Amino acid sequence: MLKKGVPTALPFFYPIEMKSIIIAIDGHSACGKSTLARDLARELGYAYIDTGAMYRAVTLYFLENGVDWTDPVAVKKALEDIQIEFRANGSGNQTLLNGKVVEQAIRQMQVSEQVSQVSAISAVRRAMVAQQQAMGRKRKVVLDGRDIGTVVFPDADLKIFLTASEDERVRRRFEELQAKGLSVSMAEVRKNLLDRDRIDSSREDSPLRQAEDARVLDNTHLNRAEQLALALAWVREVLEK
Ligand code: DC
Repeated sequence: MLKKGVPTALPFFYPIEMKSIIIAIDGHSACGKSTLARDLARELGYAYIDTGAMYRAVTLYFLENGVDWTDPVAVKKALEDIQIEFRANGSGNQTLLNGKVVEQAIRQMQVSEQVSQVSAISAVRRAMVAQQQAMGRKRKVVLDGRDIGTVVFPDADLKIFLTASEDERVRRRFEELQAKGLSVSMAEVRKNLLDRDRIDSSREDSPLRQAEDARVLDNTHLNRAEQLALALAWVREVLEK
């Protein structure tokens, strides 16, 4: 039996080792998935897998190596040459592409503008999904993306579909890019988010959609601690089941 009366905010005191769960977080671009996933992973002592970073790393490789992604043979060959890993870095993860840290490079607008096209390619998805399933096999993992609760781990113990208003998403992503010193206008950010949402939701292979058994978390009016407290309350429910 889990302890009652524990604060809903940090820290998370439950004997979490009693059950190993998989947490899937899906949602549109820039609604705060990675922040929530990272916070949950830290609180629970779980691994965090940023699946968007994997599609971004593939896109970066294609761009840097001039891979014609309309050519299935070139895509297949390139995928054989791509190795993606995550390295724990303080409170978060660093993405490595063939042994090189690409955490900053994969967030550039040039990559953001092409990633939805690259991630719509079935061969790319098959390769990434297989890696994600292997990484999550041991459970105790939080994954965020677009198809985690529907395709990668349809049996995930807790599925969260995160949402926020369009204006709020644009504002947050704009500030995030500015803080990183990347020069971009608010209009460019809005266009990129809307373009990606459209392509990600309408592609044939594993489109973004809310899993039937997902819990919706609208964080438009929630701060980081509040959204974490809500998600931790759901984790607690799952652990107590
Ligand atoms: O989470 P993100 O914005 O960094 O993801 C970048 C892109 O990768 C996103 O626009 C669509 C794609 N993606 C995907 O198709 N499936 C996932 N599970 C995660 C991301």
